[in-house]
Amino acid sequence: MKVSIVVAAAEDNAIGKDNQLLWKLPNDMKFFKNLTWGMSVVMGRKTFESIGSKALPGRLNIVITRQPALYKHHEGVKVVSTVQEAIDITEKEGYKEVFIIGGSEIYNQTVEEVDTIYLTKVHASFPTADTYFTAIDTTIFALISEDKHLADEKHSYAYSFETWKRKS
Ligand SMILES: NC(=O)c1ccc[n+]([C@@H]2O[C@H](COP(=O)([O-])OP(=O)(O)OC[C@H]3O[C@@H](n4cnc5c(N)ncnc54)[C@H](OP(=O)(O)O)[C@@H]3O)[C@@H](O)[C@H]2O)c1
Repeated sequence: MKVSIVVAAAEDNAIGKDNQLLWKLPNDMKFFKNLTWGMSVVMGRKTFESIGSKALPGRLNIVITRQPALYKHHEGVKVVSTVQEAIDITEKEGYKEVFIIGGSEIYNQTVEEVDTIYLTKVHASFPTADTYFTAIDTTIFALISEDKHLADEKHSYAYSFETWKRKS
């Protein structure tokens, strides 16, 4: 089974502030939905709260927390206490791909292990951010595709969809 990260990060690697995103990019939301639809999504407890503590439809939702009682009876969500447990459940349920969808704590614990990083690079910097993605290690990952988009009336920032694959 393939293990991937999907993340939107700025030029300074900022990904969030006050447990929210730093931008509204509708095309990135569409990209995320299309990419992860029908797959498994794994997220930290804070990211789950940042999306309103509701499962994303059409996907197996797995939340990682050290508080096992949390969301125990929450509809549409599996609660686990390690990333490995989330990956094991996904594999057991027969999914082809598991997406690590954040936030920074969970990315940091998985970035060395994943096969692919789907990075939406937001071409701006956010000095007031409080949460960051780690810079991609180019000795481990190679950029295999890049799709650039300019800012427009619906998108305040230019952005690029980048795909990074582990070098063999
Ligand atoms: N730009 C993007 O693509 C993107 C994507 C996702 C999130 N974000 C942003 O990232 C921010 C949230 O990220 P974050 O780093 O603060 O939090 P997070 O990674 O979403 O969640 C952290 C929580 O996950 C649990 N956790 C972490 N490691 C664990 C482990 N090894 N075992 C068990 N539980 C573990 C803990 O939950 P407990 O405290 O309950 O034990 C911890 O407090 C928000 O601003 C959000 O908007 C951005």
